[in-house]
Amino acid sequence: MQFDFDTVPERLGTDSQKWQKYQGKDILPMWVADMDFKSPPAVIEALHRRVDQGIFGYARPVRSTVDGIVSTFQRRYGWTIDPSWIVWLPGLVVGLNVTAQAFAAAGDEVLCLTPVYPPFMTAPANGGRVARTVPLVLDRAARRWEIDWAALEAAVTPRTRLFFLCNPHNPIARVFLREELVRLGEFCVRHNLVLCSDEIHCDLILDDIPHIPTSLLGAEIAARTITLMAPSKTFNVPGLGTSLAIIPDATLRARFVRATAGIVAEVTCLGFAACEAAYTEGESWRLELLAYLRGNRDFLVAELARSLPGIELEAPMEATYLAWLNVSKLGLKDPIAHFEAHGVGLSEGAFFGVPKGQYVRINIGCPRATLAEGLRRMQAALKALPSAASS
Ligand SMILES: Cc1ncc(COP(=O)(O)O)c(C=O)c1O
Repeated sequence: MQFDFDTVPERLGTDSQKWQKYQGKDILPMWVADMDFKSPPAVIEALHRRVDQGIFGYARPVRSTVDGIVSTFQRRYGWTIDPSWIVWLPGLVVGLNVTAQAFAAAGDEVLCLTPVYPPFMTAPANGGRVARTVPLVLDRAARRWEIDWAALEAAVTPRTRLFFLCNPHNPIARVFLREELVRLGEFCVRHNLVLCSDEIHCDLILDDIPHIPTSLLGAEIAARTITLMAPSKTFNVPGLGTSLAIIPDATLRARFVRATAGIVAEVTCLGFAACEAAYTEGESWRLELLAYLRGNRDFLVAELARSLPGIELEAPMEATYLAWLNVSKLGLKDPIAHFEAHGVGLSEGAFFGVPKGQYVRINIGCPRATLAEGLRRMQAALKALPSAASS
């Protein structure tokens, strides 16, 4: 290993949302999706160089930044992006909100598959649009979350305007296959829906499954697709607010840009510097990160089997550093409060669109020692349950 993922970084004094939540309490934060790893050295060096210039004026991306993105997506996915398709954004959640505003009127409906990253549901609601959720279905025998195609068709109404896709899907950690994506694309064409494809986790696929950008599924689908991307999850720079929408169709792009006018902040010079370094110089770091995360995932799976009875990872974790755990067998009304009382801070499943008490999400993007300590605390939480005392 050329890079160090084992050292536990000091996060106090880093203005960390993740760590401040439990400041002064002995609770390990394993909730919000940023990792307890330093960013790639190349990113840190690029930021140092920019900071040393001492000037932080309004920024525009330079040619080398855009070229870095275009050549990375070409190499990694065989996706040829015209630079004019790129709309810079200070965050993907901003992109979800702008899309809802731009392509649906108040009262119009936006479809998504649940459980899902909460802003898929809150972004439409923020502007008076309506989020219509279609639950993914767990095929227990195949250990796989499936799209319920009949339910998806049945959810379409005369007011449906948009489909929000998350691929890879947070929190079920699944990568959708070509045939599923084609079927989803055809569904959007048939119902004349704009397809907003959040692909923020696409560089974090742990298994040997290809990521297929939605825009590569054919001209008809690309013409109605808005792809949201960012270096933020992969290279652990979410606090730098640098994301992009890639919109091949000029009319769609103009409508999207109009909806951003005057209300969406610009990306900063630090964000551009980090983004370029991440995409152009971060590949060897990313590959080692993936190997480390695979190790963390395997460790989680082994510990669930060994020491965490009643907590289930129901389907393989194919991507991301976020695991979706079924805790319903524990019979807890408030699993989050119970685990916090035993020193570990997880994400509440209900925020992702499932009933409270059924699921929690754990962030395993951390040094193995931190993960081991978090799982040890979860084990202590299980031992404290009344059912454990009687068994
Ligand atoms: C699917 C998905 N989209 C978007 C985001 C956040 O994007 P941003 O921080 O750029 O708004 C996350 C963060 O966890 C995510 O999981």
